[in-house]
Amino acid sequence: MTEYILAIDAGTSSARAIIYDRHNKVIASAHREIKMFYPEPGWVEQDANEIWIAVQAVIAIALIQSGINPHDIAGIGITNQRETTIIWDKETGLPIHRAIVWQSRQTASIAEQLVQDGYADMVQAKTGLIIDAYFSATKIRYILDAVDGAQGRAERNELLFGTVDTWLLWKLTGGAVHATDYTNASRTMLFNIQTLKWDPELLKLLNIPANLLPEVKPSSYIFGEAIPVHFFGAQVPIAGIAGDQQAALFGQLALEPGSIKNTYGTGSFIVMNTGKTPTFSEHGLLTTIAYGLDGKITYALEGSVFIAGSAMQWLRDGMEMIKKTADSENLALASINENEVYVVPAFTGLGAPYWNPNARGAVFGLSRGTTKADFVKATLQSLAYQSRDVVDAMTEDTGIPVKRLHVDGGASLNNYLMQFQADLLHTPVLRAANVETTALGAAYLAGLAVGFWQDLDELKAMQTPPTTFTPEMDDQKAEALYDAWQLAVKVTEQFKP
Ligand code: G3P
Repeated sequence: MTEYILAIDAGTSSARAIIYDRHNKVIASAHREIKMFYPEPGWVEQDANEIWIAVQAVIAIALIQSGINPHDIAGIGITNQRETTIIWDKETGLPIHRAIVWQSRQTASIAEQLVQDGYADMVQAKTGLIIDAYFSATKIRYILDAVDGAQGRAERNELLFGTVDTWLLWKLTGGAVHATDYTNASRTMLFNIQTLKWDPELLKLLNIPANLLPEVKPSSYIFGEAIPVHFFGAQVPIAGIAGDQQAALFGQLALEPGSIKNTYGTGSFIVMNTGKTPTFSEHGLLTTIAYGLDGKITYALEGSVFIAGSAMQWLRDGMEMIKKTADSENLALASINENEVYVVPAFTGLGAPYWNPNARGAVFGLSRGTTKADFVKATLQSLAYQSRDVVDAMTEDTGIPVKRLHVDGGASLNNYLMQFQADLLHTPVLRAANVETTALGAAYLAGLAVGFWQDLDELKAMQTPPTTFTPEMDDQKAEALYDAWQLAVKVTEQFKP
């Protein structure tokens, strides 16, 4: 009898495999770091083969740790860092270039040209996205130009493109299945989120041959089977795929229109479920597909904040102010200033809702008495301020007031930050019992497709209640703090050395 679901979470900095039982209890988990390459300032690349090898390793470790028979796995769910672009040779299975990671700015000039040529409105109407190097489209164009003969080979149907989910699916199925799901497709800037098809006009604009692209399927769907040679003797269906931020929304079971989650990871990704029709933003947010389930598409609005947890890593590795990121909580509590210090962590520009690639970080409000604790507190608070920027933009776009914010991801374990977030939003913040909701979401999608779990009600019934942080700060004080943050961002954007 099949008793387990295995989720693969191929994130930016590490690959994980987590095995869940029927009651969504974690039976075993393993993770392995993935190396980043920075060939030039602002460029970020990874080795797609290393991602594949890391995924095989974590599956093996999780299976060994659990002691279960691979034949007892009912299905596999895949979730992944989105947008990251891989092109490989169909025959050899070898990538023709390093994977270009979502963070990489190496295609900024291609994106800028598209904006200058006046395509911003057309691209937003079709894809829901703001033209930016962040998405896969310009990265595909770059690889086809950078590798000798690649355009011709793509036109001769010798190459394949995929985001990390597609790459892993193709590898696990021994090259039999070249597909992705709606959530990942919606981050390429080539997929029309209204017609649910690759968009011929966009493909033509970027001169990308259609045969390079994967088939697009629902997120909860039997894509194919992992072949025994890649799955330790068992033949197991790959039955769920979703980009990591959408998977986290699903893992939180934030399934009603207006439900909103924030995952505090490397960046901070705030996603609001907007229901069955796409909502287009006038405040710098992205319209994206939340999931495809039971023949229906659910849409979302997303605000992508590029620097969140990585600001804490900067305090640890760059500024050497803390030994481990968890130390930030005690330091913030030890700070006795009245929140007069502000850190704007615009290290790689500002994402939503500002979209300013040229801004750089700034600190405000220092005095002779400012201490390390104050500085750490201000950096931590910047995660909450940036999230408030996005939540406000969402409320303005949708007219839906946010009644509660579901949170997950590493930094959500920081109680100080969660309380400050609740204070700043005047809204309860609900932290998931297991903050790894990304993998859980992928497991749910796969479990539903193979009938391991019957329906959403069954999932809701077994969800462990969250920890709630209730606003405590006086509203007027919170607004005064937020006003000063907005001023700090404004001045940061004006600063041109
Ligand atoms: O859009 C990028 C996002 O999917 C990356 O997430 O958690 O791997 O940094 P993460």
